[in-house]
Amino acid sequence: MRISLRSALCLVLVIVLLVCSSLASILSDQERDRIKSLPGQPTNVGFSQYSGYVTVNEQAGRALFYWLIESPKSRKPESRPLVLWLNGGPGCSSIAYGAAEEIGPFRIRPKGNSLFMNPYSWNHLANLLFLESPAGVGFSYSNTTSDLYNSGDQRTAEDAYTFLVKWLERFPQYNHRDFYIAGESYAGHYVPQLSQIVYWRNKGVQNPFLNFKGFMVGNAVTDDYHDYIGTFEYWWTHGLISDSTYRILRVNCNSGSSQHPSVECIKALNIADAEQGNIDPYSIYTHPCNSTSDLKHKLKGHYPWMSRAYDPCTERHSKVYFNRPEVQKALHANVTGISYSWETCSDIVGNYWDDSPKSMLPIYQELIQAGVRIWVFSGDTDSVVPVTATRYSIDALKLPTVVNWYPWYDNGKVGGWSQVYKGLTLVTVAGAGHEVPLHRPRQAFILFRSFLENKPMPQKAT
Ligand SMILES: *[C@@H]1O[C@H](CO)[C@@H](O)[C@H](O)[C@H]1NC(C)=O
Ligand SMILES: *[C@@H]1O[C@H](CO)[C@@H](O)[C@H](O)[C@H]1NC(C)=O
Ligand SMILES: *[C@@H]1O[C@H](CO)[C@@H](O)[C@H](O)[C@H]1NC(C)=O
Repeated sequence: MRISLRSALCLVLVIVLLVCSSLASILSDQERDRIKSLPGQPTNVGFSQYSGYVTVNEQAGRALFYWLIESPKSRKPESRPLVLWLNGGPGCSSIAYGAAEEIGPFRIRPKGNSLFMNPYSWNHLANLLFLESPAGVGFSYSNTTSDLYNSGDQRTAEDAYTFLVKWLERFPQYNHRDFYIAGESYAGHYVPQLSQIVYWRNKGVQNPFLNFKGFMVGNAVTDDYHDYIGTFEYWWTHGLISDSTYRILRVNCNSGSSQHPSVECIKALNIADAEQGNIDPYSIYTHPCNSTSDLKHKLKGHYPWMSRAYDPCTERHSKVYFNRPEVQKALHANVTGISYSWETCSDIVGNYWDDSPKSMLPIYQELIQAGVRIWVFSGDTDSVVPVTATRYSIDALKLPTVVNWYPWYDNGKVGGWSQVYKGLTLVTVAGAGHEVPLHRPRQAFILFRSFLENKPMPQKAT
């Protein structure tokens, strides 16, 4: 009797110890990723940040790098949703663009020696999770070099899903939290594809860990056929190309794949590129950075749709900053001594891109049916994935209209236009280029707030 009581007590003690130590190891994994302070960072920012690696494939040795920036303590981060942000390319870094130029709290000063605050950072409204994806982009790496030469949509989505599941084990406070996925440009593929996987895995699960609510994409590659029609039309109606080139583009490119265009199509695109001259295609009415000519040279025959580099002047600063050894140390990045430097976009990953379905519209249809919240926005001075491309692609879904095209307002001024469809909201941002939150930070913030609240854009000129 006494012995069995004692062994029962022992068992209880062992269980308590086990629970405690596993809790402690979760906390320490998370604590190990905590960023104390970044070099050149303003003091007393009032929010927590974490960054580090999550292994997504043990055999190949693929590990993805993330940076979590929580809402300020004064804004109750524990009550705010989690938003995953992805940039495109393919091959471009979400830290270079999303975090450092668009929606993150810090902007980098020229020369890359210090940071300053972005007053319209989206972390005022949500906890932001930036992921460098796929492996080979930014600090994300693979120990199997061939992985960099055969990336494609499918593995990118599967690795990102594995990342999310394993990341939640490290950050269990985000289990069951409202969760959204957002991104831009070629992430017009990543975002719906990852959303679909999350939706499938959650199907029939009561109270899923990843409490997926919806997605939002901007200047997003969506449907090659309609994107092409809309893009060439935009180039011609904005006076960027000749009548004859417009005609040739429509004949040679319209039925092709944007990621793998035909030789004739590439030829026509090169003529169009020469006719456009030294403009910033990502923002046609703003001055190009000095390095734009290098950029065009670097692109060679490659299709501008998918190309990297948005604002070459801004990204120059991040290239300096994120390659500083003390910055990498503070971020717990590059712990294995990656053999190449940190780039805003990986040419290898982008140029050797493999599978890339021509259309995301079937996924839209499935997720609209499932009641997932979907918002699509577009900066209307981008010529790379222009507003006309997006409008043709959305129009092809043939959704019933709930609220017809109307101007939305910010401080009494038109911020852009919007149309609410059954199952999808379309918002344009007037005067914004490819990276909407870079060009129009305040309007982008209003857009993000409306998306999270699931309310139409402000309609009154007040
Ligand atoms: C990659 O290789 C390095 C060096 O051998 C090792 O330290 C690291 O853990 C490996 N990464 C993954 C994800 O397996
Ligand atoms: C741009 O190029 C011009 C002429 O080459 C040079 O004088 C100027 O300093 C450059 N500006 C920047 C911001 O690099
Ligand atoms: C990683 O660190 C090494 C030095 O150990 C450096 O040469 C390399 O450029 C860095 N790579 C990245 C991707 O940060």
